Amino acid sequence: MAEPELLISVADYARAATGNVEKGVLDYFEGGALDEITLRENTAGWERLKLYYRVLAGVDNRDMTATVLGQPISMPIVVAPTAFHKLACDAGEIATARAAKAAGTLFILSSLSNTAMEEVFAQAASPCWFQLYIYKDRAITLDLVKRAEAAGAEAIVLTVDAPGLGTRERDTRNRFRLPDGLRVENLAPLGKGQMPEVAGSGLAAYVRENFKADLGFTDLDWLCGSTRLPLVVKGVCRGDDARRVAEHGAKAVVVSNHGGRQLDTAPATCEVLPRVVDAAGDICEIYVDGGVRRGSDVVKALALGARAVLVGRPILWGLCVNAERGAVEVLSILRRELDEAMLLCGCTRISDIGRWLFAA
Ligand code: FNR
Ligand code: LAC
Repeated sequence: MAEPELLISVADYARAATGNVEKGVLDYFEGGALDEITLRENTAGWERLKLYYRVLAGVDNRDMTATVLGQPISMPIVVAPTAFHKLACDAGEIATARAAKAAGTLFILSSLSNTAMEEVFAQAASPCWFQLYIYKDRAITLDLVKRAEAAGAEAIVLTVDAPGLGTRERDTRNRFRLPDGLRVENLAPLGKGQMPEVAGSGLAAYVRENFKADLGFTDLDWLCGSTRLPLVVKGVCRGDDARRVAEHGAKAVVVSNHGGRQLDTAPATCEVLPRVVDAAGDICEIYVDGGVRRGSDVVKALALGARAVLVGRPILWGLCVNAERGAVEVLSILRRELDEAMLLCGCTRISDIGRWLFAA
């Protein structure tokens, strides 16, 4: 009998996920917008950056602890908000929240989860932030925010790069939609739990019907005035936007192009990150996501000035392969790799990582 396959890298999990879920689901999880140029560039960008490590630095045990908005985390790697985890495994977002808890890190729950936020936050017993999409109907948006506050979310992550959904041609061809029995659970009590029956992507139609397309700074101001929770703005691709967003009250920004799923040919996040750090790093925290697949990618992101990275698809692959345990394992692979990269770079703690790593 063949030995069970050893899964020792995120790429191994990506490969193994292929056999575990149907094609339409995998295409939804893995796909990007149009030609998927940004999707590929995100990973390629980290790969292209080279680390000028230093030697004889006397590094013994590494300390990877960090904080995000004052929240202590065991490593600067947090779980990005991604939709519909019950497509990956039956326990859905509960599995993800528990995995984040086991890894000592933060889970950002998507508005579009298959499990109600109250249930996730109650069972997670770990720090959780709530990712918000602004609906055309303000009452719906406000209801989500108030419920997130009541359920124990510690920040609101407002995603601003999706006034409409980027066209994912894979989803159009597959007519992607949620299977019977699964809903957009947080929105179900508000009458927005189902995707419309259309040709093409049901999700794209749902977004067209419901998300506020003319999102503007007035919406950000409104949200700031409507919640006592700190606001994180996710999906920023420019220094000037990052600064303006922070001046309007955001406590942190996530440099992100939505994992290459929105505007195709947007730049890789590693290219944008240093500009955002230079423009706004003095007034807000800066995180980054997109294409982080190795611990060395995390070192590169921190060296460019990010405080933490978010990982999206790696967690989904973990869930597809082995539910909660798969997600735990993916997080521990990244932790192990970050630890090794720090050792080999000559860094004992996170604050030792800096731009010096890019120049000899
Ligand atoms: C996402 N992303 C996302 N972002 C968000 O703010 N709300 C959401 O509901 C979702 N949903 C979602 C679903 C899937 C399947 C993916 C792959 C991504 C974007 C996500 O938060 C993050 O920005 C990217 O996933 C980061 O890129 P990597 O790590 O997947 O390369
Ligand atoms: C996505 C949305 C739902 O990327 O955020 O699929």
